[in-house]
Amino acid sequence: MRKALVAGNWKMNGSLDANRELLSALSGAMQASDAVAVAVCPPAVYLRDALAQLESGAIAVGGQDCSDEKSGAFTGEIAADMLKEVGCEYVIVGHSERRARQHEDSAWVARKFIAAQAAGLVPILCVGEQLADREAGRTDAVVAEQLDAVLDAAGVAAFDRAVVAYEPVWAIGTGLTASPEQAAEVHAFIRARVSARDQGVAEGLRILYGGSVKADNAAGLFALPDIDGGLIGGASLDAASFIGIVNAAVAAQARG
Ligand code: 13P
Repeated sequence: MRKALVAGNWKMNGSLDANRELLSALSGAMQASDAVAVAVCPPAVYLRDALAQLESGAIAVGGQDCSDEKSGAFTGEIAADMLKEVGCEYVIVGHSERRARQHEDSAWVARKFIAAQAAGLVPILCVGEQLADREAGRTDAVVAEQLDAVLDAAGVAAFDRAVVAYEPVWAIGTGLTASPEQAAEVHAFIRARVSARDQGVAEGLRILYGGSVKADNAAGLFALPDIDGGLIGGASLDAASFIGIVNAAVAAQARG
């Protein structure tokens, strides 16, 4: 059985004080669980403080992005090796906010995915369609393009050390969640697409759902067979909400 992952993407939120408070509430409530892995992805400047505070290891830490380059004259960028050196386990690559604002295309995201793995990090590869894509019936085509770029560049075997997050762009921060049926359909599509290249890798691959996941809709999403946890934005900034989502994942795993 796949071990679910619930990861909080804090995006550009937090402060030293707010982070300390949030992490102390989270670590007080969580034990390392065999059933569900938990991670937080704070802004890069806060990673070291978060890691120091979370040294028990029940909650892992990840970056929100990494460079596709190893080192050098790339002002403002952070190398995957640096994230690994300070103690990160994961890094998000290809988040839709970066695809939109930093104009990251799928080839660039694929290079970041490869750089992350070369550094020993587990990439959380985000894919997902815009509302216009969905309305035009292009959801599968968009997701396939984003996924295939990485499958082609990194090889399917690389996906046994990676996580995919399906985040419909229209559901991010909007309060609109994909219905369980809509999410289930795309998750099954992603798994089938990986399975067409390697069935074993596809069966072991964790596919998270992201987009307005809250404590009260998490159970319905996590009950679906191809949803292996969540990538949580807004609700990961509130201890009670995030703990509620983790508990929903634990309950879903217990039901099998
Ligand atoms: P929200 O949970 O705020 O919709 O954000 C989802 C997301 O983008 C996580 O990466």
